[in-house]
Amino acid sequence: MTQASILVARAIFPEVLAQLQQVFDVDHNQDDVVMSPAELQARMQGKVGALTTGSERIDAPLLQACPGLKIVANMAVGYNNFDVDAMTRAGVLATNTPDVLTETTADFGFALLMATARRVTESEHYLRAGQWKKWRYDMFAGAEVHGSTLGIIGMGRIGQGIARRAAHGFGMQVLYHNRSRLSPELEGACKARYVDKATLLREADHVMLVVPYSAASHHTIGAHELTLMKPTATLINIARGGIVDDAALAQALKARRIAAAGLDVFEGEPQVHPELLTVPNVVLTPHIASATTQTRMAMAQLAADNLMDHLLRAQPRTPINPEVLR
Ligand code: DGY
Repeated sequence: MTQASILVARAIFPEVLAQLQQVFDVDHNQDDVVMSPAELQARMQGKVGALTTGSERIDAPLLQACPGLKIVANMAVGYNNFDVDAMTRAGVLATNTPDVLTETTADFGFALLMATARRVTESEHYLRAGQWKKWRYDMFAGAEVHGSTLGIIGMGRIGQGIARRAAHGFGMQVLYHNRSRLSPELEGACKARYVDKATLLREADHVMLVVPYSAASHHTIGAHELTLMKPTATLINIARGGIVDDAALAQALKARRIAAAGLDVFEGEPQVHPELLTVPNVVLTPHIASATTQTRMAMAQLAADNLMDHLLRAQPRTPINPEVLR
């Protein structure tokens, strides 16, 4: 019997690829060449499924060109690379990888907060450059983390994980802002208080962004919001590029309108706004919040399981548009 054809659009763990190769005819990309939209569309021809990462855009023109497509499984919890409405209209199931990365990503949010507040990379660059000649009372004095106030924008699973670490581990006061308020039980577990966005920006010593990207969340933090923050505050973005206006942030960091920022995601990544590369008071990491071997393996496995489940006639585990299944 001819096996159904799928595309694995980027390099993945060989053992997960091998599982897919047992049941599908797999067009893979283990060389990890990033495809243009036209190349992606050409490679999707004749495929019934695809495993993607956040870099591959699945939109109406691609769907029109690939009428046999039944599922696209994203190896990411975020899915702003999908036009979900267009996928639903085309009867294409979209899946993502929630839960398996929650705690790992919350750990990283905290790592980036600590590194930013305590000026870890800035001081390391100073040491590596041979500039450390003596101890000084105010050398790389940063901002306190324990006992300070953390404001979290976006209180989904990862936001809640960060809130629990902050409240229970570091004795922080936690404020949050979200589209909808959490239940009293969840607020209690996170020891978090709901406030409006302006209050959060004014009162927080550290602001953490964990909100999904959409047209509505574009530039959640721009020039105006940066003026509301304390001049001693730090801003951490582990959500998505585009949530922050990176040009406005670079200006605010240069002018010391806020103390520092920690960024794992960027507008137009892997390009980084050139001015962010020149300011010292920013910690920059290349979109690695979920990057532990175990978690990336769990994400790849869940994406592969979703593909196998849907195409081999079982219930996929984490559908984004389950109405396609009805
Ligand atoms: C996610 O899972 O959304 C991470 O940002 C990796 O893309």
